Amino acid sequence: MTMQMTSAPLLRGSLSPKSYSEEEIEKEAIRLQKVINQGTLWDIETCKTIAPLTLEINELKEKNDVFLIAHSYQTPDIVYGVADSVSDSYSLSKAARDAPQQTILFSSVRFMAETAKIVSPHKVVLHPSPEAGCTLSDSITAQDVRDLKAKYPGIPIACYINTTAEVKAEVDVCVTSSNYLKICEKLPGDKLIFVPDKLMGKHLTEHLEGKKEVINYDGECYVHATFTGNKIRSWKERTAKDGIQLQVLSHPECDSDVIAESDIVGSSEVLREEALRLGTEGKPDIMLITECGTADRIRAESENELNLIGTCVMCRYMKMTQLEDILQALREPHPDQIIELDEGIIKLAQNSLEEMFRLAE
Ligand code: 13P
Ligand code: SF4
Repeated sequence: MTMQMTSAPLLRGSLSPKSYSEEEIEKEAIRLQKVINQGTLWDIETCKTIAPLTLEINELKEKNDVFLIAHSYQTPDIVYGVADSVSDSYSLSKAARDAPQQTILFSSVRFMAETAKIVSPHKVVLHPSPEAGCTLSDSITAQDVRDLKAKYPGIPIACYINTTAEVKAEVDVCVTSSNYLKICEKLPGDKLIFVPDKLMGKHLTEHLEGKKEVINYDGECYVHATFTGNKIRSWKERTAKDGIQLQVLSHPECDSDVIAESDIVGSSEVLREEALRLGTEGKPDIMLITECGTADRIRAESENELNLIGTCVMCRYMKMTQLEDILQALREPHPDQIIELDEGIIKLAQNSLEEMFRLAE
């Protein structure tokens, strides 16, 4: 693997994959169409256009012993065409830590790739889209956390995993969408500071009422903040007139009026599993209140006919990575596509992630 110095984002079609025979492309396109399983959007002709990219990516992965991790919100060509592990932020940090391969390529936003580096600092972690951030992660700095510690000395601080390595290095424990209630309940004392998601913090405050006081911050996920309880209520009323009883599944980054209208609240992976389960139980009318990638996964993987009602919202950061970026990072990573973190920061951030693993199990 060699390094190049330039790092402009790649446009679709701007990088030429290796050439493959017509038979190889046909065979790969058939495989892709089957695993992506969304015939109208990903027809055989579309799959043929991406086949040379997925073929070369999978070849390079094998040749260089690379483990390719993708978050659920990545596009189906990545999730089903080239990823070795696809899940939510908690499971993927464990997958990165436990993978025997010495190189990890993390197709997702920056904070997840940084987390992979923190839990496995001896591995090379490639992040194909250095510009893919997150509004939550951008909402707080390490100095903001130090200021909170000075204002509220001795109070434990929990931070959502959607934060930079520097922020993780300042806090007592990290949490994710699959364990924030459980972990925060276990923290010592009758107060805690929760950063940076104010909407998840609101839900946490309600959950811990009478047990613990929560001091919140003011970040939010611009995707999940879009949804409102009112919208869900009007969908429920409209569909009820047609005899449809909606099952509402939402992500905990949503506001608490959304959570109050939801039948199931959980991480991207929990929502996928629960929607598939509802399908097998003959409850196909599902409203998903989250990023569009979860609906893509459910459509691809459900063995039952599901009626996914309502709209999803797309995260522009999660959708920045394309097959071209992955191929380029595997061929010749630019310096900013290789996650490098200060050793001292890694050591401190490791403590808060290890505490998360300990309290979550
Ligand atoms: P999950 O932990 O549910 O995968 O969430 C990560 C995220 O960024 C959701 O917006
Ligand atoms: Fe961040 Fe929201 Fe995008 Fe998740 S969906 S990466 S929380 S901006």
